[in-house]
Amino acid sequence: PSHIYFSRHGESQFNVLGRIGGDAHLSPQGVLYSQKLPFKLKELIQEHTPPNMEQNVTVWISTLKRTAETAANLPFPKMMWKQLDEINAGVCDGLTYEEIEERFPEEFNDRDGDKYSYRYKSGESYADLVERLEPVIMELERHNDPQHVIFIIGHQAVLRCIYAYFLNYSHAELPYLKIPLHTVIRLTPKAYGCVEERFKINV
Ligand code: G3H
Repeated sequence: PSHIYFSRHGESQFNVLGRIGGDAHLSPQGVLYSQKLPFKLKELIQEHTPPNMEQNVTVWISTLKRTAETAANLPFPKMMWKQLDEINAGVCDGLTYEEIEERFPEEFNDRDGDKYSYRYKSGESYADLVERLEPVIMELERHNDPQHVIFIIGHQAVLRCIYAYFLNYSHAELPYLKIPLHTVIRLTPKAYGCVEERFKINV
């Protein structure tokens, strides 16, 4: 594939409260990120776009508000993928990790034991997520126009799966990969595998 950029959505109101899942709006910090993002992205794409060439970008978002709000100021076409929605935490959706431990102590323990395979009650596992993301990965693999950049604005669990695929992390490592907020990650394909760079945006 050609260059792939990705980022988590800007900080959401649920991130501030330590709650998982849901469909919250961005926090004020998250809004700031959405305002700074277009400048940083253009600067980064400039680094590998020949002079006088137009910046040809498609932004992929999920169906959740926080990704659309993060993409709001990017002057590029957007494509919405249901497959990019965050891992479905089922009965734990909207809870904090403390609340999960309190209400579902066994589940909490099970998840600790095998985070990749653990499936939330009425929800998904990382293994399910990897399967759900197959069409997204296939589309990324097919994408090989060097003049065209795909920028994915996603969620932590989803981006762990995509990142692990391109950088060859194991199933055991995948659920623990660090994909911080307010950071643009650029993957540049090389003959063997990908080179990764990270750019933190201070908000
Ligand atoms: O929904 C929550 C997170 O993005 C996934 O985090 O799998 O480490 O709990 P976690």
